[in-house]
Amino acid sequence: MTSFSLELGGVNIHRGNSRLISNINFQLNPGERVALLGSNGAGKSTFLEALVGLHPMSGGVYKAFGRTLKEERDFRQIWSKIGLVFQDSDDQLFCPSVIEDVAFGPINLGHCPKDARMIALATLEKLGLDGLSERITHKLSGGEKRLVSIATVLAMNPEIILLDEPTTGLDENVRQRLIDCLAKLPQALLFTSHDQYLIDHLATRAVLIKNRTLVNSILHKHPHIHVHSHKHVHPEDEPTHPHASSFDHVELYHRGDAHQS
Ligand SMILES: Nc1ncnc2c1ncn2[C@@H]1O[C@H](COP(=O)(O)OP(=O)(O)OP(=O)(O)O)[C@@H](O)[C@H]1O
Ligand SMILES: [Mg+2]
Repeated sequence: MTSFSLELGGVNIHRGNSRLISNINFQLNPGERVALLGSNGAGKSTFLEALVGLHPMSGGVYKAFGRTLKEERDFRQIWSKIGLVFQDSDDQLFCPSVIEDVAFGPINLGHCPKDARMIALATLEKLGLDGLSERITHKLSGGEKRLVSIATVLAMNPEIILLDEPTTGLDENVRQRLIDCLAKLPQALLFTSHDQYLIDHLATRAVLIKNRTLVNSILHKHPHIHVHSHKHVHPEDEPTHPHASSFDHVELYHRGDAHQS
């Protein structure tokens, strides 16, 4: 019996009338956190959306939790187990207020409105968003919308979480808080990103869409001395801090680059 959360063997994914990604062989194991990489337009969003049934697949076999998914009714049976955070938050959020948006999933899972509200509030708190609960969704900033989108999926407690560029538009502190939160989750994560910091700090493995197919990618870390100067900001009334003598900054920088294997 298979132990994979997701398993694709020889699958093609289509967008509109054209085949976008061919002969995909991919497995997602429980609890692992995989970065899905590729250039703009490579098909990363399409791949994530196809995993929840939003784009057609052909050929091969696609299984989730050991069950083959083919027809729309197959996808309906796993909708609560695979949560997708869309690249565009406006595709995710549709209720008048934040609390309604985040409680929507739990209500659909059968929780009473009171319990759904409690789950929603706890989820918002986990992401440091409790102050947003009564806000009007469409008046949130771009970064706030992104975090609330993530909250709508976390509130459903799916077994697999698909995140499409989760850190776009987030400031450094909020991005770090989100990474800390995601790293603590027991669920399997598959996420797309162009954010090297996120990839370095969250991914346990990476795959890459290249030449219209999916290939394994190596995430490796190598220490190197990185000497550079850059501009940074001090508030006018804050004293400046001492800087290194001949360089503005000297850092020991550990970075994980993604390379195709
Ligand atoms: N609504 C659509 N109808 C037809 N083709 C589309 C549609 N949206 C996107 N595409 C095409 O599908 C291809 C893959 O797009 P996709 O959004 O999956 O790429 P991506 O890897 O997520 O890119 P990015 O890094 O910019 O988010 C692109 O060539 C794009 O032009
Ligand atoms: Mg995309």
